[in-house]
Order: sequence, then C-alpha cells, then structure tokens
Amino acid sequence: MNFRTAVLTISDSGSRGERQDLSGPAIVESLDTLSTVVWTGMVPDNREQIAACLRQLADENKAELILTTGGTGLAPRDVTPEATLEVAEKLVPGIAEAMRAESMRITSRGMLSRGIAAVRGHSLIINLPGSPKAVRECLHAILPALPHAVETLCGLARECAAQE
Ligand code: MTE
Repeated sequence: MNFRTAVLTISDSGSRGERQDLSGPAIVESLDTLSTVVWTGMVPDNREQIAACLRQLADENKAELILTTGGTGLAPRDVTPEATLEVAEKLVPGIAEAMRAESMRITSRGMLSRGIAAVRGHSLIINLPGSPKAVRECLHAILPALPHAVETLCGLARECAAQE
C-alpha cells in the first residue's frame, strides 16, 4: 500500500523565518519510498493552530499518516502532544513507547519527549521530537510497523495473525 503522508513542523522560530527547518526534510528523507509525502508545512507552537492544522490534514486532506516534529518537550511553549490529544479519537501508546525505548538506548534525554500517537478518522498522527537526529532515531524504531498500522486503520488488513 502506498499511503499518503503529511509532514508538519512545529516551531515558533521556524515559522517566523528565523530558523531553517531541517527536521521536516529529515522526515521526508527517512520515509524514502515507503510513502508519498503529499503535504509539508509549518505552524508556530500554538495549540489552536496545531489542532486546526491536524484536523485539516486528517479531515480534508485525508492524509493517512501525519508526522509532526517539534514541541514535544518541557519548554513552556511545547504543546504539540496537548494539541494532538485534543483532536485524537484513539491513542496508540505502543508507538510512543517504541520511540522512547529506542531513544533511551541512545540518550537519557529520550525520556524528555512527551510525544504521543493517535488516530483521527482514517489518519494516524505521530509526534516526533524536534531535532533532525531525534527524528531519524525515532522513525528508525517505528517505520517497519507503519504500513501495517495504516492498512489496519484503513480496513485493508484483516488477517493480522497470518501476516507475521
Ligand atoms: N530522542 C532521540 N531519539 N534523540 C534525541 O536526541 N532529544 C531529546 C528528546 N528525544 C532526543 C530525543 C530532547 S533533548 C528533548 S528536549 C525532547 O526530545 C523534546 O524535543 P522537542 O521539544 O524538540 O520536541
């Protein structure tokens, strides 16, 4: 299945044009041929704007996978998980657990990302941390499971037990 992915960078300084976005491109590069990136964009660390953008990408753009980067830490302006929770219909804790487990093998700071994964309609939303390095490390942990996740979400995978 060639699924449609949207990449949303969340950064105050990036959206003011004060910092080049390297994390969005790192996501696109890591996905390689796994999926088609149909949308990339950026919003500031503003809960309402993030939630509105996620709703638009899931409900109107019908992206099957929405990957966010940034705003998952402890800084006062970091609200990406809260905005994602606001639009979530179901949580997928295992994806966030897998990312943090892999991150913790590399750096103890891996525990500082509060990113979540959630389902809205037929879209899977995953919060990645903000640095290109962290993006690559977290995606490395979850990429193998993503096609099956999206197929299940879209009702295309029925015989899970027979597939592994
Ligand atoms: N995860 C991985 N795999 N590699 C990293 O370098 N950095 C951590 C963490 N997760 C990191 C990581 C750090 S230093 C922070 S502050 C948090 O992600 C939150 O990052 P964010 O606020 O940019 O989303």
